[in-house]
Amino acid sequence: MSARLLHTPDEVRAALEGAGRVGFVPTMGYLHGGHATLIRRAHAECGVVVVSVFVNPRQFGTGEDLSRYPRDLARDLEVVGEAGADFLFHPSVAAMYPDGYATTVSVGRVSGPPEGTSRPGHFDGVATVVLKLLNVVRPHRAYFGEKDWQQLAVVRQMVRDLDVPVGIVGVPTVREASGLALSSRNSYLSAEQRERAAVLSRALRAVQDTALRGEREVKRLRQSGLDVLATEPGVQLDYLTVVDGNMTEHPQATEDALTRVLIAARMFGVRLIDNMPLWPE
Ligand code: PAJ
Repeated sequence: MSARLLHTPDEVRAALEGAGRVGFVPTMGYLHGGHATLIRRAHAECGVVVVSVFVNPRQFGTGEDLSRYPRDLARDLEVVGEAGADFLFHPSVAAMYPDGYATTVSVGRVSGPPEGTSRPGHFDGVATVVLKLLNVVRPHRAYFGEKDWQQLAVVRQMVRDLDVPVGIVGVPTVREASGLALSSRNSYLSAEQRERAAVLSRALRAVQDTALRGEREVKRLRQSGLDVLATEPGVQLDYLTVVDGNMTEHPQATEDALTRVLIAARMFGVRLIDNMPLWPE
């Protein structure tokens, strides 16, 4: 199946006129197996599937990788079609933020630590573009990866607070055999560097194992992850933290499905993030 390319909000509205249940997968492109899993899930649950590919400048800070963010629209169009999407929405920056554009959506405390502190303004950019895309596509359901756990929390909070009429679906992280979470940014790494970057997921698993053995003290849980990271000299840790569903850290971990261990680190010049539930089901 091949997907039809759309470039402007008006084209999207016209193409979706009278469409039944629309599933929507927002992305920044350079699609991989994680994105394809979201699209397949949307295809299984909705009659019409729209994927957006838009490298959103407003969610990149100064000195971040906006200009070198990987792009390959021809390949994305293939991946999207193969995974069962009907439309690929690929707007220009000017179509999304025309001259005179002035509004920012800011979600409040779940936009803060840990990721929002490391990337000031990042989640304002994400919330703004996601709300705008939801208003253009007006989907029944929108699909987000657990890979970006705090992003998912920000989107859920925004949708709840602003009564956005959409169901938000979270999809578990897709990983390489090594454990490394798939990410468009992995394309910056060589095969050997990707192998070494799997240490991040091993650290998360170590924290999980320590929790499963009965440890609740966050300091000790954290330490078990740090011990694993210490085996790999390439890691410049940004944060390794255990948070509840509101992104709040506590001295003791609560045994709750939303308790999560989150990591961000720079490896070989690339900023990588990952997370896992503290108590997997
Ligand atoms: P992007 O990084 O392209 O990711 C698009 C969606 O794919 C996000 O919901 C993300 O969590 C999900 N995803 C990425 N890697 C995944 C993996 N390994 N397993 C499962 N899902 C994965 O996230 C963004 O774009 C942007 O911030 C966006 C929401 C599009 C707003 O600009």
